[in-house]
Amino acid sequence: MSTLAVYPGSFDPLTNGHVDIITRGARLFDRIVVAILVNAEKAPLFTMAERVEINREVFKTLPNVEVDTFEGLLVDYVQRREAQVIVRGLRAVSDFEFEFQMALMNRRLNGKIETVFMMPAEQYSYISSRLIKEVFALGGRVQGLVPELVETRLRTKRDSR
Ligand code: PNS
Repeated sequence: MSTLAVYPGSFDPLTNGHVDIITRGARLFDRIVVAILVNAEKAPLFTMAERVEINREVFKTLPNVEVDTFEGLLVDYVQRREAQVIVRGLRAVSDFEFEFQMALMNRRLNGKIETVFMMPAEQYSYISSRLIKEVFALGGRVQGLVPELVETRLRTKRDSR
């Protein structure tokens, strides 16, 4: 049986921490779907179309990585895709409580789906999309923390404001 995993999130924007988890997931599972939540934030920095385009571009060399969008309950999307696994990244103890709640709620909603936690490389363990946006907006360097394409797109957005 081949294993299909879903890696859900807002990806606003995609960080090197996400890239690290997806790359590890692509080695572990037969296929992994990067599932971007529609309307995760009321005022996202990147539109849905931009996030899909950026993710597709970054993972174009990994043939078993697919980029898709979803709305509604994650477990319903996972079931619709006939996937078996939800992948989540765990950076630090602070992530644990929320991730634990989500994993158990998702298990209650659909006991056939397993949540698998993966740890990113240490150098990415403090990165979050929220911090990237804040640091960049205030003029800080985010080089090495996000894919080059994301950095370019962040700069374009800032310049056009
Ligand atoms: O990028 P994030 O904020 O870490 O992703 C959170 C996400 C998208 C995984 C979570 O908000 C989610 O699954 N939303 C879909 C709605 C849902 O299923 N909610 C119940 C979760 S227990």
